[in-house]
Amino acid sequence: MAQHVKIFDTTLRDGEQSPGATMNVAEKVRIAEQLEKLNVDIIEAGFPISSEGDFEAVRAIAKAIKRSEVAALARVNPKDVDRAWEAVKGAKFPRLHIFVSTSDIHLKHQLKKSKQEVIRIAAQSVARARRYTPNVEFSAMDATRSDVGFLIAVCEAAIRAGAVTVNIPDTVGYAIPSEFGELIRTIRQKVRGIEKVTLSVHCHNDLGLAVANSIAAIQNGARQVECTINGIGERAGNTSLEEVVMALRTRRDLFRFHTRLIPKHLMATSRLVSKITGMVIQPNKAIVGANAFAHESGIHQDGVLKEKLTYEIMTPESVGIPRSSIILGKLSGRHAFRERVIELGYRLSDADLERAFDRFKQLADKKRDIFDEDIESIVVEEILRMPHRFKLVYINVIAGNVTVPTATVQMEMDGKLIQEAGFGDGPVDATFKTIKKITRTKSKLLQFAINAITSGTEAQGEVTVKLEEKGHTVIGQGADTDVIVASAKAYINALNKMEFRKQKLLGM
Ligand code: KIV
Ligand code: ZN
Repeated sequence: MAQHVKIFDTTLRDGEQSPGATMNVAEKVRIAEQLEKLNVDIIEAGFPISSEGDFEAVRAIAKAIKRSEVAALARVNPKDVDRAWEAVKGAKFPRLHIFVSTSDIHLKHQLKKSKQEVIRIAAQSVARARRYTPNVEFSAMDATRSDVGFLIAVCEAAIRAGAVTVNIPDTVGYAIPSEFGELIRTIRQKVRGIEKVTLSVHCHNDLGLAVANSIAAIQNGARQVECTINGIGERAGNTSLEEVVMALRTRRDLFRFHTRLIPKHLMATSRLVSKITGMVIQPNKAIVGANAFAHESGIHQDGVLKEKLTYEIMTPESVGIPRSSIILGKLSGRHAFRERVIELGYRLSDADLERAFDRFKQLADKKRDIFDEDIESIVVEEILRMPHRFKLVYINVIAGNVTVPTATVQMEMDGKLIQEAGFGDGPVDATFKTIKKITRTKSKLLQFAINAITSGTEAQGEVTVKLEEKGHTVIGQGADTDVIVASAKAYINALNKMEFRKQKLLGM
């Protein structure tokens, strides 16, 4: 019989550590609800000691989630463990996740602690966590660059202290599959008590090997994989959830493992995470990229038309690729809109629904056919966005091949209306310069990109901007049928995220 591999999703914790991917509490709860719908076993909701915002997010997710376990991360000290428990204790199935570095490099340069001391504090912290809950996970950070004898000793100490999951992270994405598989086999053979606990892995993608390493680990005894939606995370990211899950499923002939995931929710989850974090999915990304199921060459198209199996190893429907059907229009009423919002998985209060419906009506005046993607963008922009310091009230831009591009912008800032005008090299430049003047902000524009949300010339343009200030990056998004308005919205969204980020850092 196929053995169960647990899926531990860390999109909301390690994923949020991607440069620019800041999320507010409402956005995190929405993603957590979608992860629960996807049926992940464990949702790592955050690192409560790191900021007030993280604490609140873990608490809110713990309250909202009823089927998946909810994990909170803590370092090996009493304050961290207590704070993590305070945040996660309301969950139906809470988990405390305790971690400490085990490599010589980290011990010498970062922790400045001896090996004996690390064993002692790891055991003490696991034991402290164990007093709160039997569901304690221990992680040996930078395990793949650690002395194996010491790694084994730390894992044994954690198990003796009560850990029921032992996680082996490839924190810097250094391992290669054969080597990582071998390490997992050694841990399984040599760590006393390992047979009583779940052996887990957590891989980073610095060499593009996170998914391959995770699969090698499963083949050698790991029964939990830590991963993120779209593979987002620190630097090159984490193991991509959708890739591991679909690899195990598509190659059932080879692997005798299964996950409890419901793959038809993968695409919606991927799009939601991308929309909320602003992290655009590369078109050739496996499983969820726009081209993942597109057949371009004549030979391939010919083959697929004759028999899908010729060039398709899984069906687009199995991962929930939407048939972008026309669903609503100008004449659709409140009831139809509400039904569609619910079908897309959003639960909105009456007041929020009314706001979203107003925006839908405005959009339907400009755009005849409203698709699911349009509704998602309305809900994410109008309802789930972080509390606004800066709001766009009015924008008028004059541009052309014989005028100096000029933008007039009115904004609400801290409750006050401010209007300014400015010039630029083009309409977007004029708009951004004017917004900068109004908000008196200093962020540097690192990236600017436009995509169409759906097909057709009347489609909404979706703009993504990346801003940087004092080493911190944020990503903002905005959608509108007018790309200049979409650009202004994206820029203001990024500025609001930067404000949120500054507050978060002050709370540390
Ligand atoms: O990469 C890592 O080692 C981590 C740990 C906190 C599990 O994210
Ligand atoms: Zn990590």
